[in-house]
Amino acid sequence: MVPSTVFLLASLVPIAAAVKHVEKPTVFVYVCGDETSTSFPGDHASTRRPALSSSGVASGVDSTTAPGSFLTSTTIGDATSTSISIELSTESASPTDSASSTDSDSSTDSASSTDSDSSTIVETPTSSVITTTGSTVSSTSEAPTSSATTLPPTPMSCANAQLSCHNTTAVADLCCFNAPGGQLLLTQFWDTAPSTGPADAWTIHGLWPDRCDGTYDANCDASREYTNITAILNSFGKTDLLTYMDTNWKDYQGNDESFWEHEWGKHGTCISTLDTTCYDNYKPQTEVVDYFEKAVELNKGLNSYKILADAGITPSQTATYTLIQIQNALKAAHGFVPTLGCKSGVLQEIWYHYNVLGSVQTGQFVPTEPDGTKSTCPATGVKYLVKYATGTPSGTATAPAPTGTGAPFSGKGFLQAYTSGSNKGCLIGAGTWYTTGTCAGYTATESGAGFTLKSSKGDCGIVDSVFTCAAGVTPSVFTDSAGLLAYEGSSNFYTTAVPSGSVQGKVTTAQQAVLVTFKWQST
Ligand SMILES: *[C@@H]1O[C@H](CO)[C@@H](O)[C@H](O)[C@H]1NC(C)=O
Ligand SMILES: *[C@@H]1O[C@H](CO)[C@@H](O)[C@H](O)[C@H]1NC(C)=O
Repeated sequence: MVPSTVFLLASLVPIAAAVKHVEKPTVFVYVCGDETSTSFPGDHASTRRPALSSSGVASGVDSTTAPGSFLTSTTIGDATSTSISIELSTESASPTDSASSTDSDSSTDSASSTDSDSSTIVETPTSSVITTTGSTVSSTSEAPTSSATTLPPTPMSCANAQLSCHNTTAVADLCCFNAPGGQLLLTQFWDTAPSTGPADAWTIHGLWPDRCDGTYDANCDASREYTNITAILNSFGKTDLLTYMDTNWKDYQGNDESFWEHEWGKHGTCISTLDTTCYDNYKPQTEVVDYFEKAVELNKGLNSYKILADAGITPSQTATYTLIQIQNALKAAHGFVPTLGCKSGVLQEIWYHYNVLGSVQTGQFVPTEPDGTKSTCPATGVKYLVKYATGTPSGTATAPAPTGTGAPFSGKGFLQAYTSGSNKGCLIGAGTWYTTGTCAGYTATESGAGFTLKSSKGDCGIVDSVFTCAAGVTPSVFTDSAGLLAYEGSSNFYTTAVPSGSVQGKVTTAQQAVLVTFKWQST
């Protein structure tokens, strides 16, 4: 029985591979980084995500966004994330593991990674290899099954998988071998202008498949460029995943859903092992769930903030660091020097590179060197700025716009919150008060004796004494009272408590424990 079963399976492999779509569109080369050439759908279409840029293409971004200076930092420190550590298969990622601190500049040599014998690559960074088998199985078992005969979708099992980018002959089964995107990158942001996410955590940018030579494919399957990522994750019962993403996978303009759609559509659809044919009992969009789960899982194992802080590299408006210092700290944890992205000498991104033994869903992510030279940081004088800083970053020539100076409520701007005399957070799209996230853009339009407000969520009004912005809300007319937002003559708004962490405060006109006022910050 066994031999014929094996034969049957073996004969099916090429058939399955042949059935897979062969569409492989444009190959991109990293010149300007990832996101600079893409604008997002929705109401931010005119602005772009800042990204790694060696050519200054993204430099126009900052002029349209407020500097990261509009929040006080006093309570930010304890407002941290839901994160962070997960169990690694071997967790002794001691900084002393990496004896070869002096050869870190070899990471910029893209050719060397392909020369390496795969067994060496697997063994060297064992301290940070993440074993993932089982996580997908347990997660898919949460999916509701409509009848006893419906089996949960399961990624194909991958016995004797090969390490991506290390094959010497063509591999047929691309469900168990990532190709052509064989180098997987988990990329992170440190956003300070404006600040996003926890003050002491890097946020996720994406999970990207690179070819093994520094180029990459993008937007590989238009039919799977979904515009309902949140709904998909919810439909699979992934509320914990969504909660984590809400805090740790941030769009700098507050449009997280669009950002997730962009990352999945541009990069996720190019991962061969996430093809719809790579499952037993495939259920539509299972691979989308797997994409976000894997990115989050990798991110949880890459606490860049702590790695750097443990090496004495902490955010500062004044200190600078050398590139080697930063690289050595990260190399000690990851096994290889990741790609570092700077803009004007300010550290903004870390890209961790992996090869994968097997599929993205169930395989092993094996740290490796970057497959191309992509770092954009100077050798010395690298700045690692504080998130939600209050003052002007010292040494920068561009003075940040003063926050909430009582500018007239008109055009586009942020609604900065003030309580007990200081600026603490701002309003986000639904009209709730948030102290650790991205401010929502509001549009103020003259109306009668005052003005109306609108966010990406819809018109803003006082609904049952709660400041609410949503589709279908009847817009209220607000006024400017000595530079403060006022409703029915009063600039006093209230919440039950000053929000912290991922908590959002409902803002009411009815008196409650905390008095808060709002100033306009034009953008
Ligand atoms: C590795 O496998 C991929 C996918 O089959 C193939 O395109 C590539 O040419 C192979 N590499 C080598 C060196 O044979
Ligand atoms: C998400 O969108 C796709 C494509 O429009 C659709 O097939 C799918 O049913 C949607 N899923 C949910 C949970 O809304």
